[in-house]
Amino acid sequence: MNLKSTWTLTLLFTIFSITLPAGAAEDIKTVLITGANRGLGLEFAKQFSQNGYKVIGTARSPEKATELKATGAEVLKLDVTSEEDIAAVAEALKGKPLDILLNNAGYFGPTLSVGKGNAKINNITRQELLDCFSVNTMGPIFLTQALLPSLQLSKSPKIINISTRSGQLSTPRSKAWGYSVSKAGVNMVTSNLHGELSKNGFIVISLAPGHNQTDMGTERGQLKPEESIGKMIPLIENLTTDQSGRFWYYNGKELPW
Ligand SMILES: NC(=O)c1ccc[n+]([C@@H]2O[C@H](COP(=O)([O-])OP(=O)(O)OC[C@H]3O[C@@H](n4cnc5c(N)ncnc54)[C@H](OP(=O)(O)O)[C@@H]3O)[C@@H](O)[C@H]2O)c1
Repeated sequence: MNLKSTWTLTLLFTIFSITLPAGAAEDIKTVLITGANRGLGLEFAKQFSQNGYKVIGTARSPEKATELKATGAEVLKLDVTSEEDIAAVAEALKGKPLDILLNNAGYFGPTLSVGKGNAKINNITRQELLDCFSVNTMGPIFLTQALLPSLQLSKSPKIINISTRSGQLSTPRSKAWGYSVSKAGVNMVTSNLHGELSKNGFIVISLAPGHNQTDMGTERGQLKPEESIGKMIPLIENLTTDQSGRFWYYNGKELPW
C-alpha cells in the first residue's frame, strides 16, 4: 500500500470514528416521565434507561429521589398542579426534542373512601374531586401545553396518558369517586389531543397499566411493575398512527372507553 492510500484510509477512518457517535447520539430518543420517583414511574424510568433512552424523570421532591437518580435519569422538580414548576420544566427542555411525554403522575384520593363502602354519592367531597382533577386530568393538559414546542421538535412525538379501567364508562361502580371521574376525564384529554394533534404526526393514547403492586395498587395488585412496564414499553415503541386516539391495556388489548 502506497503512502497516498494509507493517508486516504486514515482520513476515512478518522471521519468514520468522529461521525458515527454523533449520528448515534441523534438517534437516542428522549422520554419525560412524571411521578418517576416511585411506583410505576420509577419502573418506567429504569426500563427506558436500560433500553438506551435519555430519561427525564420528574419528582415533587427531587432531593429524595435517590432511586430515580440511580437509574441515570435527569431529575427535574415537578408538581403537576404547579404552574411555576411546569414553566420551569418547559424552560429546561427549550429547544430540545422530546419524543415521548409519559403523563404518569397520579392521585387516588383519600384512602378512606375506598373499599369500606364509603365511595358513595353522600361521601364525595369537593376537595377530593378538585385534588383528583388537578393531578389526573389538568396535570396532563397543562404539561402537554407547555411541552408542545419540544414535542414538535421530535420526528415522531408520542403522548401517553396513564389511565385506568376505573375510568371506563362501562365500569359498573368504581371504588373511588374522584379518581374514576378524573381518569374518565383524562381519557377525554387523550381524545381531544388526538383530534387536534394527530394531523401533525402526533400519536396520543390512554394506557391502563393493570392492577400493580405499588403504593397506590397496594400489595393486592395482581401484577409486579416490572412485568406491566415490560409489556407497556414495547407497546409504546411500536405504536402506529392508526392506534392513536384510542385506549389500550398494558397487554396490548384495546379497551372500550
Ligand atoms: N398501581 C396500580 O394498580 C394502577 C392501576 C391503574 C392505573 N394506575 C395509574 O398509574 C400511575 C402510577 O401509579 P402508581 O401505582 O405508580 O402510583 P403511586 O405508587 O401512588 O405513585 C404515584 C406517583 O405520582 C406522583 N404524584 C402524585 N401527585 C403528584 C403531583 N401533584 N405532581 C407530581 N407528581 C405527583 C407521586 O409523587 P410523590 O412521591 O411525591 O407523592 C408518585 O411519584 C397513576 O396515574 C395511576 O393512576 C395505577
